[in-house]
Amino acid sequence: MNARVLPDAEALARASAELVLEAEAAAGERFAICLTGGSTPQATHRLLASDEYRGRAHWSRWHVFLGDERRVPLDDPRSNYQNARESLLDHVPIPAGQIHPLTDADQYEGLLRAFFGEAPRFDLLMLGMGDDGHTASLFPGSVSLLEAERWVIAPPDVVQGMSRLTLTLPALDAARRTVFLVAGAAKSDAIRRISAGEQLPAGMVQGAEWLLDEAAATGLASA
Ligand code: 6PG
Repeated sequence: MNARVLPDAEALARASAELVLEAEAAAGERFAICLTGGSTPQATHRLLASDEYRGRAHWSRWHVFLGDERRVPLDDPRSNYQNARESLLDHVPIPAGQIHPLTDADQYEGLLRAFFGEAPRFDLLMLGMGDDGHTASLFPGSVSLLEAERWVIAPPDVVQGMSRLTLTLPALDAARRTVFLVAGAAKSDAIRRISAGEQLPAGMVQGAEWLLDEAAATGLASA
């Protein structure tokens, strides 16, 4: 596992914000970033939108996509898009037409194919991991993990009472740079299992860098 360990959640947010700016610089005139849901990246978003960081990004170059979504109204507090708006998108001058909420699998697949062509090569794909090792809305044991053709699907799994939409492994694997943001002791067991080679969904994404806080990284030490 290509992992970097940060002392705490704040250091993790700072390291990930720097990584976003680095990926933006590497991308040039058009920066395609895919955001994720969950609580961990919200601190990164807030930092990027802060006075300290806002002036360092070239927001007009950003094209924003979502890696997964819960099938709730876009303004529902459980919507990943709504969370990204509150923590980042509403506070920075990204042209509205360059922000792409995920509301329908077929429509999103068409959008990605028109934007990228052959493969969805996000300049930066940000991902989180659940305690059970899921990432995006790809859950352990799900038939969704077998999807080999489609880039976006509506998986059959209903988790926490919500059906979802998600990018598939072939889509996630196409990114130029992929980073997992993982914090907290509750994640250490999944980190241990993945670093020991177990095929949990997050560990199945190819070529990812992992930013872990010390609590999550205790799993690495015992691997
Ligand atoms: C979702 C997310 C999901 C998330 C992980 C980690 O929509 O549920 O995209 O994959 O990234 O569950 O979430 P935390 O960062 O809150 O632990």
